[in-house]
Amino acid sequence: MKLWGGRFEERTDKFVEEFTASLPFDKRLFRHDIRGSVAHVTMLCKCGLITDDEANTIKDALGEIYREMESGEFPFDLADEDIHMAIERTLIDRVGVVGGKLHTARSRNDQVALDLRLFLREEIAEIAALIVAFQKALVETALNNLDVIMPGYTHLQRAQPVLFSHHIMAYFWMLGRDIERMHFCREQTDRLPLGSAALAGTTHPIDREYVAGLLGFSKICENSIDGVSDRDFIVEFLSAATLIAVHLSRLAEEIIIWNSSEFGFVELSEKYTTGSSIMPQKKNPDVAELIRGKSGRVFGDLIGMLTVLKGLPLAYNRDMQEDKETLFDAVDTVKACLVAARGLIGTMTVNDKAMVQAAEEGFANATDLADYLVGKGVPFRDAHRTAGEAVKKCLVECKALADLTLGEFKALNKAISEDVYGVLSVKESVKKRVSSGGTSPKRVAEQLETAKQVIEREKDWF
Ligand code: ARG
Repeated sequence: MKLWGGRFEERTDKFVEEFTASLPFDKRLFRHDIRGSVAHVTMLCKCGLITDDEANTIKDALGEIYREMESGEFPFDLADEDIHMAIERTLIDRVGVVGGKLHTARSRNDQVALDLRLFLREEIAEIAALIVAFQKALVETALNNLDVIMPGYTHLQRAQPVLFSHHIMAYFWMLGRDIERMHFCREQTDRLPLGSAALAGTTHPIDREYVAGLLGFSKICENSIDGVSDRDFIVEFLSAATLIAVHLSRLAEEIIIWNSSEFGFVELSEKYTTGSSIMPQKKNPDVAELIRGKSGRVFGDLIGMLTVLKGLPLAYNRDMQEDKETLFDAVDTVKACLVAARGLIGTMTVNDKAMVQAAEEGFANATDLADYLVGKGVPFRDAHRTAGEAVKKCLVECKALADLTLGEFKALNKAISEDVYGVLSVKESVKKRVSSGGTSPKRVAEQLETAKQVIEREKDWF
């Protein structure tokens, strides 16, 4: 007999039981569900709705169920429908009628809303800690390769020389914004829905603020209908998760390009690559590709959740049960990708020679020639044209800018003199980019100092 079976005469169809069950996936909420129930029972007792003895009996049995679920001994039964029913039915089986008092002034609607907030609050902290750990790996990679010069790209065309450490640190700041979003998401979970009951609140004299305090919430949901209908905190998290996925995917894409034989900027560790079943020479960047590929799942999770919610009348509808798999999938995927990205970065070898060679070829110093002319009083647009003409000449003659003779330079623009060769080296080019946030070694060293302070500020996540 179902706990809700009073008005029913027929047994639920077997298929319907399976179709409607969330137990196979929501059992991972058992800790949060039991924690919520213990707080609820404590409040019922404090408010005189149940006796001390009853509260203790219920709590003891819940503790036993918790331990069995944790150790894997608990005999889950799909007929229970969901984790809330599995726990409550078992409780009643074990302690008898007094177990039936647990659900006083409560509904599964506010119960599941609570469980999700408790779950997400915990996961957000774990994800934030993984982000910070990944940021640390980025800083380490930057420090280990501080002065390595590579071509910076726009349109995937060599643009200007930059420090590899500077390039890597760009990801640090992207991930820094992800951390800020985790702070925001944590705040959004910080409201207690319990006590909203099914949707309208309850006739019983409960104390919601007390429960909020017990469960570490700083406020309660102000409106019982909103309390059970609100999944905004999930959407906000999923949307923040998609950005984490975007960031990791962009890095993965770069690593795949850098690792190609055409680039050869990095070499991935054998620990983080896989072979081909047919082509013996292959060492494939599958981990990076999966980070890139899995970002698609996370976007799907966000769109799935938004779509589930968009047409729902208030308050609870069973559609909302679909919130869990999307949320769990995004949480698991983002966590795994953060771990994978950290490992990938931490184990790859940087080929500084290939990087600097690529920076020296491909006219990444053309802007430096233009800037040099500006320094000689030539308006930037004219300087730009001269540098472009110099590039054209070199392309025809298959040489680099630094290969042009002084005579050839002067023929292009008489403002050019011997000192031009000084600015054409990639090292000089990088060194001169001293504007705040620029790629000069001095600025990057400052950036790394700031980054260390940022990491220090986030240590509370651990
Ligand atoms: N398993 C349900 C869910 O995940 C729990 C809430 C069920 N409430 C209800 N009135 N059927 O959403």
